[in-house]
Parts: sequence; structure tokens; C-alpha cells
Amino acid sequence: MSGRPAIRAERLLERLDRFAAIGATAKGGVNRQALTEGDREVRAMLAGLAGARGFSVAQDEAANLFLRREGTDAGLPPLLLGSHLDTQPTGGRFDGALGVLAAFEVLEALEDAGVVSERAAEVAVWTNEEGSRFAPGAMGSQAFAARALPPEWREARSTDGARLGTELAATIAALPVPLAPLGFPIAAYLELHIEQGPVLEREDTPIGVVTGIQGTLWLEVEITGQAAHAGTTPLGFRRDPMRAAAAAMAELYGGIMPADSDARFTIGRIEAEPGSVNAVPERVRFTIDLRHPDACELAALALRIRGVLESACAEAGCALSIRRLVDMPPTAFPEAMVERVEASARRAGLASRRIVSGAFHDALYLARCAPTAMIFCPCRDGISHNEAEHVEPRFAVAGATVLLEAALSLLGAADTASHPPIAASGPSAA
Ligand code: GLV
Ligand code: MN
Ligand code: MN
Repeated sequence: MSGRPAIRAERLLERLDRFAAIGATAKGGVNRQALTEGDREVRAMLAGLAGARGFSVAQDEAANLFLRREGTDAGLPPLLLGSHLDTQPTGGRFDGALGVLAAFEVLEALEDAGVVSERAAEVAVWTNEEGSRFAPGAMGSQAFAARALPPEWREARSTDGARLGTELAATIAALPVPLAPLGFPIAAYLELHIEQGPVLEREDTPIGVVTGIQGTLWLEVEITGQAAHAGTTPLGFRRDPMRAAAAAMAELYGGIMPADSDARFTIGRIEAEPGSVNAVPERVRFTIDLRHPDACELAALALRIRGVLESACAEAGCALSIRRLVDMPPTAFPEAMVERVEASARRAGLASRRIVSGAFHDALYLARCAPTAMIFCPCRDGISHNEAEHVEPRFAVAGATVLLEAALSLLGAADTASHPPIAASGPSAA
């Protein structure tokens, strides 16, 4: 080994800029939605960088991409580090990309220092984490954890009319690399991400040690009434789905978040058919994103939402259908992994605090496969899912440094007596 492995800040920051140029928007953000040309371009870029360092590249049938630095014992499950490269339609430069590029920087730091580890270290780029073009989100990691891609997902249609199965096949074909099995044993999983909220920045704390992820429910609500002339149809003759939707929304916005500061309720997409200025719509469709750290509260809120929608539809003489697009229960990471990240921050000389993630992440599904931990770094004004998203370079580098420290301890390549490497046989010791 030639010296202790270290993050090369200028390399990481240059890569963040280079990747942000793919799908760059006029307002300084990124639009690189899942399985689009831009997504394929960044995957190819990363695969090229991996090839240049002698790392192997593979992808699975969910188009998850893997970049692997071998250990000395090919029989051991690898340490996996990862995140995603897809973005929101008006997304930022760091949501996902920071985690992937910092994970790749860790592999390069190991390579630069000639670290010899028994276990391989591998970067995963998970497909369609955002879920904005195709639902559900965290699709690739969910398929990896379940070792299956549900056939109905292949038929899912994007907001732009594309079929998921077709886009997956085209993305896989665009990168001719060996096919990995969908789901394989891993020893542990680490993910660096921006906080996407205001807590760390407000406290000027560079590192968030994530203890878990709150639960998320996505619903697609469809309310059907009767199309009618806007000028001639009196109230008593209308079955107006927009009136039902508006009444329900007013009650839900007024009743959920103001009453429970832990709850998050968002309507992010709404459409009316036929969408004509002078016609009462026949159908209104909208999404609900509901989150809560407590599984029981989340379930109770879901029931309440159904009740409110049913009464509003009955009142307006409309029919209601609700489809569940995402159902992610709250997840807690193992205490031993949380402590390991805290110790990694201490070794790096960085202050940290524990934090629960309000956003969902691929780590939620990886936690079903192996001991998992997440590291957060602050973002400016807590803004994310917005082109203005920004991470100070010093925070990006700090996050990557803690990721490297945690990886070294799990690989047994650092002197971390209190947190020994993960058990040789597999994922039992966190
Ligand atoms: C992830 O992008 C989320 O919506 O939490
Ligand atoms: Mn993300
Ligand atoms: Mn996101």
C-alpha cells in the first residue's frame, strides 16, 4: 500500500461538474430522468472511467450498473457503495450524483493507495430512484433486493408515453457489458447523499449519520364524473370531478400537516380530461405523496385520506379509484452501522449528528439485504428537487471522506479496533 487512501477533492469536484453537464438546464440544474438518453450517457461515462482504472463493469436486467474493484478472495460478497444518477425533471446537480461519484472516488482512492482487501468494493448505480418518469421510485434497488423485476413494471408508462420494458432494454443495449444476476449477496451497503432538508446547514454540522428513513406512500387518485358544458350546466346538473378534488384537497391540506408536524402531504401532479377551458372535466387524476416516520400514523393517515376522498366524491356524484404506486415502510438502520459511521466521522475529524431521512433512498431496500448505513451532507437552504440545489465543495468532500473511512473499516483496511471489518463469511457483523 502506498500511503493512506485519501479523497482527491479536485477530482471529485471536477467529476460532479462534468456529470452535471449531461442534462444541464438553463437555470443551473439537471434534467436527466431515468432511462433517457442523458441517463444512458452518464452511465457510459462512468463505465468508461471504471474501465480506465481496470475496474470491471456489469449491469443487471433492471439496468442497475456495477463497477467493481476486486479483492483477493473472489468468493466473498463485496462491500457495496452506491446511489443514483437519474434526476427529477427540474432536479439538482447533487441528488444521487454525489453519492455515485463519491463512491467511485472511494474506489479510486483505494486503487491510488494500492489497498489490498480480501473483499471486493463495488459501486452500484441504481435505476430510476426518483420515480418521476416511471413509478415506483427506487425501482432498481427494490428489484435488486427482491431479486425480481415485477412483470407489471415492464408495462408501466412514463409521463412521456414510453414503456418501461422498452426503455430498460434500450438502456441495457446501449452499454455492452456482461449481465450480472439481479440481486447477489453483499456484505454491507453504504450510501452518501445530500440531506435535502435544512437541519445540518442550520447547525453547521458537516455530517449527518442517518438512523433510518421515514415511510412513504404514493397514491394515484382518479375521480370520474361527467363532461358537461361549462356555460350552460347548472350546479345541480353537474357531476364535476374537479369540484370533488378541490374539496378533498382543501380538507387534506388543512388537516394533515398543520395537525402533525411529522407528517408530509404533497400533491405534485394533477391533470384533467379532456382539459378544455369550457368543459366540466370528465376525469381528474392527481398524485398524493404521504410520509411519516411512524408506520401506524402513516396507515391511519392513509385511511383518513380515503375517507375524505370518498365523501367528496359522494357529495359531487363522482366515482373514485385509488391506486397505490409506492408503499415504503419506515426503516431503521442497524445501530452498529450507525455507530460505525459516527466513528468514521470522528476519525476524519468531522462533527456529526444523528438524523432521520425525510427522503426515501435506495438504501431503504438495500437494508433488506445487508447491514446498511447512510451519510448525509448539508445542502444550501435545505433546497432539493429544485434546480437551485447546491452543496458547498467542503461538505461534498467531507461526506466522501466519511464514506471512505466507513468503507475502509468495513474492508478491514483501516486500524479501527472498535469496529472490526465485516465478518469474512458475510453480512452478519455490522
Ligand atoms: C426521493 O427522491 C424522494 O422523493 O424521497
Ligand atoms: Mn436521491
Ligand atoms: Mn431525489
